[in-house]
Amino acid sequence: MKIYAHRGYSAKYPENTLPAFQAAANLPIDGVEFDVHLTKDGRVVVIHDESIDRTSNGVGYVKDMTLEELREYDYGSWFSEEFAGAKIPALGEVLNIFRGTDLRVNIELKSDIFAYAGIEELVLQEVEALEMMDQVVISSFDHEAVARIAQLAPNVENAALFVNTILDVAAYQAKLPAKALHVSLPSSVRRPIREAIEKGSVVRVYTVNEVEHAALIIGSGVEAIFTDEPERMLGYMRQN
Ligand code: G3P
Ligand code: CA
Repeated sequence: MKIYAHRGYSAKYPENTLPAFQAAANLPIDGVEFDVHLTKDGRVVVIHDESIDRTSNGVGYVKDMTLEELREYDYGSWFSEEFAGAKIPALGEVLNIFRGTDLRVNIELKSDIFAYAGIEELVLQEVEALEMMDQVVISSFDHEAVARIAQLAPNVENAALFVNTILDVAAYQAKLPAKALHVSLPSSVRRPIREAIEKGSVVRVYTVNEVEHAALIIGSGVEAIFTDEPERMLGYMRQN
């Protein structure tokens, strides 16, 4: 089972910041995952929530601020004073950390309440400019966005995200089409996902932070897990 660092090495560093990504890049893991939103001036930025309230010292929605305005805030202190001054990264800055490494790069397109028109094209343009089309996996809970990625870039790996599974998930996957399924830990132990794996679906599971949970899915054919604790999971995988 492969290991992807979820929002970078987010257990020990502020999620979705350059320190978290640099720490992930220094580990012998298989991939990294992060989330992207669109700014007022059409820049793709890396942050989990649609607002900056939880992970910065500012307030407001990403969509209502330019990149320059977003960079006025501190995205590290909420986690620890050690990381005071960490800035919100633009997509290209994060891609450059992983460019030329062996890590897969999973870009999750967020939409939440606000739809970001054109975010699929913008993300693909940046990935293509850095010649990383073979290195990325583009995923979303917004399955219309997954279908647009499939249409715009059929050779780029895409993935449909699920909180809960649906019964014939493999047939749904083929219809989208999606190359992989990214599913929650509870879904991953249910029959529909097990059947999808038997039918050949690539399944990756979020967010697996406890070894007891990894033990439930190791050997089930799950290709990879997303974890905030990549070193803990590396230790577990080495023993199993
Ligand atoms: O991409 C897997 C996982 O990150 C999805 O959930 O809320 O952590 O973005 P969330
Ligand atoms: Ca995510």
